[in-house]
Amino acid sequence: MRMSVIGCGYLGAVHAAAMASIGHDVIGIDVDERKVAALNAGSAPFFEPQLTELLTEGRESGRLRFSDRMADAAGAQVHFLAVGTPQIPGGHAADLRYVDAAIDGLLPHLRPGDVIAGKSTVPVGTAARLATRVADSGATVVWNPEFLREGWAVHDTLTPDRLVVGAEPDAAGERGVAVLREVYAAAVEAGTPFLVTDLATAELVKGAANAFLATKISFINAMAEIAEASGADVALLADALGHDSRIGRRYLGAGIGFGGGCLPKDIRAFAARAEELGRGEAVGFLHEVDAINLRRRERAVQLVVDALGGLVFGRRIAVLGAAFKPFSDDIRDSPGLDVAVRLRGLGADVVVTDPAALDNAAAAHPQLGYARDRNDALREADAVVIVTEWDEYRRDLSPAHAGGLVRGRIIIDGRNCLDAAAWRAAGWQYHGMGRR
Ligand code: UGA
Repeated sequence: MRMSVIGCGYLGAVHAAAMASIGHDVIGIDVDERKVAALNAGSAPFFEPQLTELLTEGRESGRLRFSDRMADAAGAQVHFLAVGTPQIPGGHAADLRYVDAAIDGLLPHLRPGDVIAGKSTVPVGTAARLATRVADSGATVVWNPEFLREGWAVHDTLTPDRLVVGAEPDAAGERGVAVLREVYAAAVEAGTPFLVTDLATAELVKGAANAFLATKISFINAMAEIAEASGADVALLADALGHDSRIGRRYLGAGIGFGGGCLPKDIRAFAARAEELGRGEAVGFLHEVDAINLRRRERAVQLVVDALGGLVFGRRIAVLGAAFKPFSDDIRDSPGLDVAVRLRGLGADVVVTDPAALDNAAAAHPQLGYARDRNDALREADAVVIVTEWDEYRRDLSPAHAGGLVRGRIIIDGRNCLDAAAWRAAGWQYHGMGRR
């Protein structure tokens, strides 16, 4: 099928490449000329496993092209909207300017029967508003939220847990759903649940899913606070809770909390939209979820300060990780970088290392020190803080090797990802988050 993907960031670039890989004829549109040039050259403008391979394959097959001209979207049967919806400056709501700009740009090129499939995360009610805006063109709006995780984006796009398509309950809506069923025919045939809803429910599924995940993480981090005050161990607690199949162990990883370009801004936008709808109190707990999450960063800083006997000024601190999570170079709202910046603010000599996100971090926070090589970051450190659980630190860093490089054997495990006993046995003072 001929399709366009408007917006080629983490979501759109992966969606475009994945759709080409299953045989569709795809044009990706983005206003950023440099990004378009990189994508056309088969190079991913950000770190995402398997994406480069799919871009190269798409280019060689001739089924995948990128352009900065919206006119090139003309003639596609489906237009996927994959632009960003960041937090508005100075507020909590979602900024829909890129969504509206995409529709403005697309309008002159729409033909009757075209399907616009929204993938961006938007406040409930947006799809119906866009449907009204494009009504005269004869195009149909459906909503098809995306649930991909960075670092697993190709996998999640090609083998999703479920497909959700929201549409108006009329003939045009039904046709829109049928077109999307055809787009995803391979996944549907493989047994992926395909749920058809109204527009509002489809938009809400996405917001609710991220709100639930954020709540689950903050729940265990709240338990970490209680564990800290009572001498319990939150990691063991999470293991025990996780064996209850109604609860499950995933997203019960306590530590410095969630970050990234999605969960933090999505829970705020969700709460802001609920307030607009006069139902703010229904999701009042999301403010608490946010506050618990941000408190974990302060807690990590406090652990470092305490471990150094209150003397942080001028001390050298190695921060292992900058990305908001492993297998990503994304530093948007990275809790680990926030911890690094706070320690620098206290006068520490902070050196950050990361296998993928160093350049992004250095551009955003030039006041921090950086080392490309993990060993250079560790050398002469008075304390080490692990903030992103990359395999390079979690699995491959031996306490004995690290101990030979540092000045002080103090480690703060911001992700509870290390074997505490092994580090202690090697003479390290180990501090987890909410762990004994
Ligand atoms: C999240 C959702 O998981 C996706 O389903 C969704 O599609 C995406 O947002 C989106 O809205 O586009 P992502 O932001 O890639 O995906 O990251 P996650 O893997 O969910 O992790 C989010 C943050 O939570 C990370 O900082 C991670 O370190 C943290 N986390 C995760 C924890 O602190 N504890 C856990 O147990 C799990």
